[in-house]
Amino acid sequence: MIVSTPNQTHAGERRVALTPDVTTKLITSGHTVLVESDAGTAAGFRDDQYLEAGAQIVSAQEAWGGDLVAVVEPPDRAVTGYLARGSVLIGLLAPLEQPGAMRRLADAGVTALAFELLPRITRAQSMDALSSQATVAGYEAVIVAADHLPKFFPMLTTAAGTIAPARVIVLGAGVAGLQAIATARRLGAVVSSFDVRSAAAEQVQSLGATFIDLTVERQDEKAAGGYARELARDDQAALLESLTPHITAADAVISTAQIPGRPAPTLITETMVEAMRPGSVIVDVAAPTGGNCTLTAKGEVVDHQGVTIVGWTDLPSRVAADASRMYARNVLSLIGLISDPIDLSDEVLEGCAVTHAGKITNERVRGLLEGV
Ligand code: NAI
Repeated sequence: MIVSTPNQTHAGERRVALTPDVTTKLITSGHTVLVESDAGTAAGFRDDQYLEAGAQIVSAQEAWGGDLVAVVEPPDRAVTGYLARGSVLIGLLAPLEQPGAMRRLADAGVTALAFELLPRITRAQSMDALSSQATVAGYEAVIVAADHLPKFFPMLTTAAGTIAPARVIVLGAGVAGLQAIATARRLGAVVSSFDVRSAAAEQVQSLGATFIDLTVERQDEKAAGGYARELARDDQAALLESLTPHITAADAVISTAQIPGRPAPTLITETMVEAMRPGSVIVDVAAPTGGNCTLTAKGEVVDHQGVTIVGWTDLPSRVAADASRMYARNVLSLIGLISDPIDLSDEVLEGCAVTHAGKITNERVRGLLEGV
């Protein structure tokens, strides 16, 4: 197959879907690889590295015209027309947020495979781009918090006296949260964490952090496919009340709580922020889905009475080289399941297929388009 990758069409996106080492592997497996000129530059991969790996450097139109096109983010409307009828598009395509774009892909005769819909089963772990990018986001959130905090993370004993370590609280202990805990611990902070899923407690403790046991009924994750459910109104109010003393005592809060397909739950209110010490930092990893803090501004850094609230939505893109390396391996692994012509009977491909043969194949996306 002709596997290709174009430049990202979203301003500020630095990641690339294929790296030179993955290019070599694809070529060894018998594929031809086309890379748009400069597609990898922002992630630190130059055109000559792709050429050395055996790829051809091509124009945007050629890069969108492959049999299998790998992207990081959903393509703009303007380039959808370059996609060939019968081709396969792989990426983080935001199918539930942008159902209209999925309709256009179906009309263009493209088979769209969205990483967001990949079944989270053991066999699909190597393809799990949501997890790889959440890992990067969790790491970067802590680095950003450390950079904005006017304080050390580790305890320092010096001739000038002893400095206490930073207190970090991580809200939501999924993939991003666990990586944030591990990173903050490596930097020497004292870390605590909370999640509504009962399985999270053990994972938090295994990383050397304290699990905050609040008076909220914990959820059995098997009931919701590994994901959390939204809390009832009373539970949500009780949660905010019991979280307040923990948030206000923290130097840095990394909030990562999300509910798939829903707005992020509110865990930090304006009143809580106002009770935090000036200089404290909140990095809201859930900013892309509305944020866990009511004061978060998408893509911005806000100062509220001396507390810094970071709402950047491009945390993985800020670690573009390694985020791309991990993402490209996810792409390679998924390509390993794809035959020419594509056969969607495999449970992984069936799970992440959004469009095929002119139709919307995913029920949730179909429901959104029909206004159900
Ligand atoms: P996510 O990004 O949807 O949410 C992040 C975290 O926020 C989750 O741990 C969730 O429980 C938590 N959360 C939601 N509402 C909350 C609230 N009100 N208060 C506090 N925390 C709240 O989740 P992510 O990171 O994608 O992982 C979800 C689950 O999937 C985890 O159990 C994870 O271990 C599992 N998983 C399984 C994989 C596999 O089997 N292949 C791969 C990746 C993740």
